[in-house]
Amino acid sequence: MSEWTIDYPVYSLDRHLQLPAGTTLTDEDLHALISSSGADYQKKYSLMQVGTVRNDILNFLSQPPGNAVFSNEKELAEVIELMEQVQLARPKLDSVEYFKKYDPYTYRHILMVFAYSTLLTRDLVPNYQARIREVATSPLHDFGKICVPLEILTKASPLTRDERKNLEHHAMAGYLLLCYYSQNVRHVAARVARDHHERRTGSGYPRGINQNDRMVEIVAVCDIYDALTSTRPYRPVSFDNRSALEEITMMAERNEVSWEVVQALVAHNRKGKPRFTECSVSLDKRGVTPPNNLYGIFAA
Ligand SMILES: [Fe+2]
Ligand SMILES: [Fe+2]
Repeated sequence: MSEWTIDYPVYSLDRHLQLPAGTTLTDEDLHALISSSGADYQKKYSLMQVGTVRNDILNFLSQPPGNAVFSNEKELAEVIELMEQVQLARPKLDSVEYFKKYDPYTYRHILMVFAYSTLLTRDLVPNYQARIREVATSPLHDFGKICVPLEILTKASPLTRDERKNLEHHAMAGYLLLCYYSQNVRHVAARVARDHHERRTGSGYPRGINQNDRMVEIVAVCDIYDALTSTRPYRPVSFDNRSALEEITMMAERNEVSWEVVQALVAHNRKGKPRFTECSVSLDKRGVTPPNNLYGIFAA
């Protein structure tokens, strides 16, 4: 990234960091910004111990489609154990409590993406330490939504084009904030926050790059899966599980998302829980997408 202009402000929850809309950041500016970040962001705490996070995750996973994906109790216990290894610095944890209080949909979403990503990371990332490091990025993928007005995040009707642009700001805002807190422009969580809406074909945002980073791809698929299978204030009917998996399979067919990650997700939805490498994914379309589903639809 050599230079980037932000169209909307970036700020931390405590308003310690504020970049006004229209700020252009070069690599040097970003390094200067990061070096002004305090060492107090280095002490870490377990995310699962924050508030009611652990119980809320277990509760969310007991409902469809989580209960189908996590129907194997031993596997669920192993995933929870891995999630318990994730430790984050205070400002990152504060975002989880902020969403719980002000935007419960986003709160549920980030915890679901955390759980799904942890499950798929077990299949796709062989090294245990790398798994923990990479899994820790998933609950932070929408961190930048702290910079999106709550009226937009919780709006009960489709977003206008301007509101959509403001919402899309969360990717770059999350990148800048996570670089700042981790004092590292190459931090994997910052990269995941910036690139999880990018697609292999270059059809995503914010930069329209051809995305092919392993952890970004895991989070991207889990993000789409949870978005499709969940309701939102403006989208009261969600996709059923089969239709959602078919929709994501078509995205893999169009080479927008990783075929391997989709295969892993589909394998966990099969009764016998085959290894993902042995799971054949049908391209037949048998599910029925919900009427009036507004996923990806915006007001003019
Ligand atoms: Fe996002
Ligand atoms: Fe998301």
